[in-house]
Amino acid sequence: MHKLIIKGGKPLRGEVGISGAKNAALPIMAASVLALGKNTIKRIPELSDVKTMGRLLSSMGIKFAYDNGDVTINSSTINNFEAPYELVKTMRASVLVLGPLMARFGRAKVSLPGGCAIGTRPINLHLMGLKKMGADIELKTGYVIAKATRLRGASIYFDIPTVTGTENLMMAGTLAKGTTTLKNAAMEPEVTDLANCLISMGAKIKGAGESIIEIEGVDELNPINNYEIIPDRIEAGTFMAIAAITGGDLILKGCRTEHLDVITLKLKDAGLVFEDAKSGIRVIGGEKPTATNIKTMPYPGFPTDMQAQFMALMAVAEGTSIIQETIFENRFMHVAELRRLGADISIEGRTATVKGRSGLMGADVMTTDLRASASLVAAALCAEGESAIHNIYHLDRGYEKMDEKLRMIGADVERVND
Ligand code: UD1
Repeated sequence: MHKLIIKGGKPLRGEVGISGAKNAALPIMAASVLALGKNTIKRIPELSDVKTMGRLLSSMGIKFAYDNGDVTINSSTINNFEAPYELVKTMRASVLVLGPLMARFGRAKVSLPGGCAIGTRPINLHLMGLKKMGADIELKTGYVIAKATRLRGASIYFDIPTVTGTENLMMAGTLAKGTTTLKNAAMEPEVTDLANCLISMGAKIKGAGESIIEIEGVDELNPINNYEIIPDRIEAGTFMAIAAITGGDLILKGCRTEHLDVITLKLKDAGLVFEDAKSGIRVIGGEKPTATNIKTMPYPGFPTDMQAQFMALMAVAEGTSIIQETIFENRFMHVAELRRLGADISIEGRTATVKGRSGLMGADVMTTDLRASASLVAAALCAEGESAIHNIYHLDRGYEKMDEKLRMIGADVERVND
């Protein structure tokens, strides 16, 4: 187990390269199950979640190789159709193999994910959709056991837009007989990226990125051929928050501004200045951020995956801000740790009230989930003195070489054994 030792209080300056998006990489890796032969994908970030997906595919008899961002997956040798509890419990996104397995083989055994630090996170909507497509689903000993001869197209309405649910059913629809319509679908850029990849494989999909997606099933798909995944908008947003909280000046290379619209708007309200730069986007932090309210919403609303980092920024803002979390019922685990760094935050239900302080003080803190760990890193970079961020396993799940990238822009960060 590692911890990060951070000596904060320095404005960070320089260039940061944005990695490929974790939440696009995982479903696209799962999509390789849909085609016979060698799939090649580019710009896959080196993350522990990517390794977990690789282990899952390998455990199914699939050949998986990772080389500096290039991934090769050959599913011709698949001989096992199970996502075991040991892997699903470490990474919920393992459920993304369910749709592809059902579409191509009509059989899957996938462990139910169970709760996680940020909420109960059920998969009932994934299962409802598959049932509508003709799958026979049984829940036994903590596993979903699904079977079908061939899935058939169906009209499916999500009570709540679900990102991985939309992705699972979109993949299921690609090889189904007939047309599948997903209504109130998730519109996240990662869903669109998966759709673009599937289209490059020969799938017939219309409307990805909108709330109604139509998928006309085909008989087979070609393997993925050097598909390059989109840059990670949440990593970019996190570095923007870091520029703001340290009063720094960063150039973010390789991000897609159109995916960052709302994050940028809110950070502008908080006082961050944005400029176009030759190699990317320049973000300049001011003296002190301005209190700004946020409410998390499905895309194109403010992402829940940026809530914790934004809260760290608000902890040192001028004035009081209100932060509402509407997606996950328990996504304020970082609050108690931010308080250890001196933040003044109170919670009532799904609303946090953050009274900006003049500064934060270094302390030992413990991470509880991926984005909580990013918020603690941001807060520690701004705090006076030394902080130790324990249990950074969560950070490594979703941020590629975060500590190296921070050192390149002048941060005093050390990774040591805990
Ligand atoms: C994905 C992202 C995660 C992000 C989240 C919300 C990946 C790998 N992960 O997670 O980083 O925080 O979207 O943007 O892409 N729900 C149900 N029943 C279901 C499915 C979901 O009630 O069957 C609820 C969830 O509990 C939650 C809401 O729907 O309240 C949205 O969750 P969802 O979009 O499914 O999140 P994930 O896909 O798990």
